[in-house]
Amino acid sequence: MCGIVGYIGQRNALPIVIEALKRLEYRGYDSSGIALINDNKLAVYKKQGKIVELERSLPEPSKCEGNIAIAHTRWATHGEPNEINAHPHTDCTGRISIVHNGIIENYKPLREQLIKLGHKFVSQTDTEVIVHLIEQFMTSESCLEDAVYETTKRLEGTYGLVVLSDHDPNKLIAVRKGSPLIIGIADNEYFIASDVSAIIIHTKRVIYMQDNEICVLTHEGFEITNIDRAKVKHEISVVDWDISAIEKGDFKHFMLKEIFEQPVTINNAYRGRIDEQMGTARLGGLNLPLKELRRVKKVHLVACGTSFHSAMIGKYIIEDLSRIPVNVEYASEYRYRNPIIPEDTLVFVISQSGETADTLAAMREAKAKGATVLGITNVVGSSIARETDGGTYIHAGSEIGVASTKAFTSQVTIMVLLAVFLGRMRSLSPVDGMEYIRELDKIPGKVERILAQNEAIREIAKSIKDSTNALYLGRGVNFPVALEGALKLKEISYIHAEGYPAAEMKHGPIALIDENMPVVAVAPRDPLYEKVYSNLQEVRARKARLITIATEGDTQLEQISEHTIYIPDTLSNLQPLLAVIPLQLLAYHVADLRGFDVDQPRNLAKSVTVE
Ligand code: AGP
Repeated sequence: MCGIVGYIGQRNALPIVIEALKRLEYRGYDSSGIALINDNKLAVYKKQGKIVELERSLPEPSKCEGNIAIAHTRWATHGEPNEINAHPHTDCTGRISIVHNGIIENYKPLREQLIKLGHKFVSQTDTEVIVHLIEQFMTSESCLEDAVYETTKRLEGTYGLVVLSDHDPNKLIAVRKGSPLIIGIADNEYFIASDVSAIIIHTKRVIYMQDNEICVLTHEGFEITNIDRAKVKHEISVVDWDISAIEKGDFKHFMLKEIFEQPVTINNAYRGRIDEQMGTARLGGLNLPLKELRRVKKVHLVACGTSFHSAMIGKYIIEDLSRIPVNVEYASEYRYRNPIIPEDTLVFVISQSGETADTLAAMREAKAKGATVLGITNVVGSSIARETDGGTYIHAGSEIGVASTKAFTSQVTIMVLLAVFLGRMRSLSPVDGMEYIRELDKIPGKVERILAQNEAIREIAKSIKDSTNALYLGRGVNFPVALEGALKLKEISYIHAEGYPAAEMKHGPIALIDENMPVVAVAPRDPLYEKVYSNLQEVRARKARLITIATEGDTQLEQISEHTIYIPDTLSNLQPLLAVIPLQLLAYHVADLRGFDVDQPRNLAKSVTVE
C-alpha cells in the first residue's frame, strides 16, 4: 500500500503536501517524492528512505514554490525501494508526472508496446507505463483529461492515481479503480488523498471517490465523471473525528497510544449494540431480515493476519453460543481454492483497513458464487465497506501503528456480539445472553487494570529482549491469542516467535525448549486450566523461561514461572479481550528496547493492498 496526496489552492503547496504525506507514512515508507509546478514548469524531487530524507534533499525554497503539487510515499511492489523507482514517475519529456497506489497487472505488454513506440523507461516499476501511455495519447488536439481517459481504458489491475503536468499547470487529475482516493474540500482549495488522515487538519468535508471515476480539480472547483465521461454527483461527507485521533499526544509511539485506547475502543465497538432487556445484541448493519438470519446454517470468517486471529476467536465463540459451524479461512487461500459455499452460508470478511487485496478478492469470489457477504471493518467508505451486502463498523478510530492492536480487540468484541446475537436466535437463553452482555460491559474497566501494569511488563520485556526465538502457548479460545501475541512480537521486534496450541508442544516443538527459550503462556482460569498447567510443567521441566498470563489470585502458576502477569477473571469466551493486552505491551516494549521503529517496522505496511 502506498500513500498519495495532492493539493491545489491559494497557499504554497510544498509544506502542505509534505505534512500530509507524513500522516500517510504508515501506508508505506521505503521512498517518497513530490512533483509541483514552479514558475509554470514541472519540478520533481524524490528520495529513498523516509519522508524526512526527501525533505532534506529539497532545493532552496524558491525552487519549490507553487500552489499545486502531488506527493507519494511508497511500499515497494514492483522494483526495489530506491530513488529511481520512487514516485512521482514522469514521461520521456519530463512534463507529465503521476503518483500511483495499486498494481498494473498488464504492465509488461504495455511496456513492450511503448518501448517499440520509442518510449524510454528508467524504472523497474509497473507504474511507469501509466505516464508513458498518457504521453502517448497527448496530441495537439487532445487535452490532458482525454489522454488520461484513453490511458485508463488500457490499464488492467488496481490504481488510485493522480496526474500533474505543466501541459495544464492548473489542474490535478485523479483516477480511482480499486485503491482508495478521497477528495478534501476547503475554502478555495482542494485536496486529493489516499485517506482522510492526510487532510483532516485542513478540512472534514470529503468525498469518497468510487471505482472507475475520474476527478479533475482546478482552482475553480472539481468535477467527477465516470468511465463514460458522464458527470457524477456525490454527497459531501463530514468526517466525525478530528486531528487529535491521529496524533501521538503524550505517547512515544502510535502503537502504545492505541494499546491504551482499548478501554474506550472496546466500548465503542459494543456501545449502542447491546440489548440488556433481551440479553442479546443489535447488529443493524447486517441488513438481513431475522428470518434469513434464522436460516443460517454455516458461517465463513475470511481474513488475513491479525484479523484472521480475531476470526479464529470468533469461531470458538460463535460455535459455542449458536452451535452454527464456522469455517475460518485465510483470504489468500480462500480466493483461489474455489471454496464450497452452501446455501444459507453467511460469509464475513474481516479487515481493519477494508482494503487488503486478498480479503477483497475473497469477498468478490464469495459474491460471485452468490453468497451473502458481510464486512467487519474499521474504515468508513473502504472498499469492503462499499462492496459487501452489509456489515458492521468496529469504530476503533484511525489505527496508525502498523501492528494492529485496538482493531483486534474491537474485532473480537464484534465476534462476541455476533455470537450472542446468533445464539439468542437459537439455543442461547436470555439469562446466558444477559450474562455475556453484562460481562462485556465490564471489560473496559478490566483492561484498565491490566494497562496499569505497563511499567512492570516493560521490566519483563527487558529479560527477553535479546532472545532470538520465542514460543507462545494457549488452548481453546486462547490459542488464537497465542498466535496474535507471537505475530506482534515478530512483526515489530524481528524476534522469531511461534504460537502453538499448548498441547501440541509434545508433538515436536518441545525439542526447541532450553534455558534460552522464552515461553509465553496464556493460562487464565478456565475449563482447560489444569491441562494447560500440566503442559507448562513439561515445558518448565526443560528449563524454559516461562512467562505466564494468569488470572488474578492464581499463585500456583507463579511457582513455575519466571514472570507472571495477572489479568482479571472473566467469562472464558471473553478472556482473549484481556489476555491479549499484556502480549501487546510485551511486544511493544521488547521492540522499543531493541531500538526499532515500532510504528513503521521494516518491510511492512499498514494495509497490504497488493497480492
Ligand atoms: C497486524 O499487526 C498486521 N499489521 C497485519 O497482519 C494485518 O492484520 C493484516 O495485513 C490484515 O490487515 P486488515 O485487517 O487491514 O485486512
